[in-house]
Amino acid sequence: MTEEILVADPQERFQDFLKADKYRERISRMAIAGSTSLTVDFEELLTTDSALAENLMEKPDEYLEHANRAALAQLQIEEPEYAEGIEKIDVRLRGLPETIPLRTLGSEQLGKLVMVEGIVVRATPSQPLITQAAFRCKRCGTVTPVPQTGTFLMAPIVCSDPACKRKGPFDFVQEESTFIDSQEIRIQERPEELPPGQLPRWIDVKLLGKDLVDVARPGDHVSVVGTVRASAPTIPKVGKLRVFTLHLDTNFTDVVSKEPETVVVSPEEEKQIFELAKDPWVHRKIIRSIAPSIYGYEHVKEAIMYLLFGGVAKYLSDITIRGDMNVLLIGDPGTAKSQLLQYVAKIAPRGLYTSGRGTTAAGLTAAVIRERAGGMTLEAGALVLADKGIASIDEIDKMRPEDRVAIHEAMEQHTVSVAKGGIVATLNARTAILAAANPALGRYDAYRTVAENIALPVTILSRFDLIFVLRDIPERELDTKMTEHILELHKSGAVPVESPISPDLLRKYVSYTKNLKPALTPEALNRLKDFYLTMRSASETEGTPIAITARQLESLVRVAEARARAALRKEVTTEDAEASIAIMKRSLEEVGIDISSHKLDIDIIMTGKPKSLRDRLQVVLSTIVEMEKETGMVEKSALLEKLQTEYEIATNEAERLIGQLTKEGTVYSPRDGYLKKT
Ligand SMILES: Nc1ncnc2c1ncn2[C@@H]1O[C@H](COP(=O)(O)OP(=O)(O)OP(=O)(O)O)[C@@H](O)[C@H]1O
Ligand SMILES: [Mg+2]
Ligand SMILES: [Zn+2]
Repeated sequence: MTEEILVADPQERFQDFLKADKYRERISRMAIAGSTSLTVDFEELLTTDSALAENLMEKPDEYLEHANRAALAQLQIEEPEYAEGIEKIDVRLRGLPETIPLRTLGSEQLGKLVMVEGIVVRATPSQPLITQAAFRCKRCGTVTPVPQTGTFLMAPIVCSDPACKRKGPFDFVQEESTFIDSQEIRIQERPEELPPGQLPRWIDVKLLGKDLVDVARPGDHVSVVGTVRASAPTIPKVGKLRVFTLHLDTNFTDVVSKEPETVVVSPEEEKQIFELAKDPWVHRKIIRSIAPSIYGYEHVKEAIMYLLFGGVAKYLSDITIRGDMNVLLIGDPGTAKSQLLQYVAKIAPRGLYTSGRGTTAAGLTAAVIRERAGGMTLEAGALVLADKGIASIDEIDKMRPEDRVAIHEAMEQHTVSVAKGGIVATLNARTAILAAANPALGRYDAYRTVAENIALPVTILSRFDLIFVLRDIPERELDTKMTEHILELHKSGAVPVESPISPDLLRKYVSYTKNLKPALTPEALNRLKDFYLTMRSASETEGTPIAITARQLESLVRVAEARARAALRKEVTTEDAEASIAIMKRSLEEVGIDISSHKLDIDIIMTGKPKSLRDRLQVVLSTIVEMEKETGMVEKSALLEKLQTEYEIATNEAERLIGQLTKEGTVYSPRDGYLKKT
């Protein structure tokens, strides 16, 4: 408890404070704007009149009244004409000396003025709240005003006409009642502040007055100055509960910057960052530092690197093109998908991990929910909460049906629109997405298309820049290494391979590059253009319906930009373009597109593998099966020869097909130079 310092004439002292030029100016501006609230910078009051400031924090109910009256008195001096029609000025206090973490808010702060920060997760629409109700007596016609404070509308006990004094009945007169704009929002601890494994704390915040309502929307990060109150929930006909819940009566709300707070980088770390950026192997180093406990998956980790750094958003006069990437991992059970996702959520500035079902009623996008009291509330889902960050969505194939519709807009336009229950809103969801899904049939079936393998429509699949398939295929050499890796990890309790960049430095490195906007060099642009046009024309001449679409072209640019960013470069070089093309090819191949024949048909995702490839794979496989009948194991050289002579499949093509079958796990090598069907 701070010691109480009594202040004589608080109203006068506050008015003295308001006589500073700055506030006189603000008061004049109130008249121009027709406003009835005056914002005071609390830190200033604290230095000018600390006793007064402390009393405001300790006894806000009493001292805010003094402040409000002082402001009105000063307004009457500065702008007497404007002041004439005004009954009350609200003094708004901005920026208390300290922010109380929501986690520690409790009965200790009851009745005190505090400042808290958090993310808005819910908001009711702005609604008129009655502050003074007028009732007309049905017997004599006299109107009785009744100030309203409680939850329910109160009628007068008796008629205010001394000659009548009857107990009604009364009619409510709306035209003669006074209303104020009101809104209730819920703020929650920010995802980045949440201690690992804990559920976020939240508090309901009541907003009264037209300058306070509709200032913040779900997904906004806000700082709220308000008085801590406790109220007991009422159970009709039973009474009030003994356990009270806390809420805030708001004095001031500020939407704070949505940029992830720029991490403080020491000169020492800055030096490390520059050194790293100069390293010709910087990309390799970053990739090796991503989830080092997870063995292999270099290409997935490369994609994660691009996702972390991100491309450059383009804000054109008519449209906006997202810079953030979306990456999807489809995989057999136990292929470390969840582990990778959790790692990314931890390392990314403003990262959030959620399951496709979402952790709240709002799921991934947003929802309008009906409250117990009957009102409607707009609640923000994971993608809105992860605005300007990265959302790791595990089991995305299990998302709510409502999200399946809304996620289309979220993934491309980066907004979530809601129109339901009288609430119409568009929320920001500028989020990079790393999603994971299990194959619908339990295991990935290489002979089916991606769309057949996963319970997601093509319209959603096509919004992922990169898609990879993680398959659990027994393969002797890889298995041995991975087993050793995992066992070593369990034995020593440490990562077997040391990561070149510590997670802490990597996080700082990522946010350090965020303001960089690398631009394509003419050479890089030409390289991407060539690749794209080749793929387009290939399909044109051969009459396949749709080649890769403009979506993939944008993805290529994003990846190349992200790669430049990762090296702290302002220019996107040919090398970046090449790397971008390489990983895009890999992704397209994994979803079953035949790169070799240049038939890059994105429709394949929907319709199936190119017939030619499927046929040739079938030929190789059936030849193997046939030969197995004779020899048990198939000698590779004999197979190659047979394919050449009987089916005119060239050796290098045959090698590639065998490679694909091996990768798919249909064929394995029991020993060097031999093959066998699994
Ligand atoms: N390549 C790997 N390197 C190291 N550990 C691995 C690897 N693959 C799997 N594991 C381990 O296997 C376990 C299972 O991984 P995880 O839970 O992430 O799988 P998942 O792909 O999410 O599976 P599911 O689809 O069933 O959810 C984890 O403990 C993970 O560390
Ligand atoms: Mg999992
Ligand atoms: Zn009466």
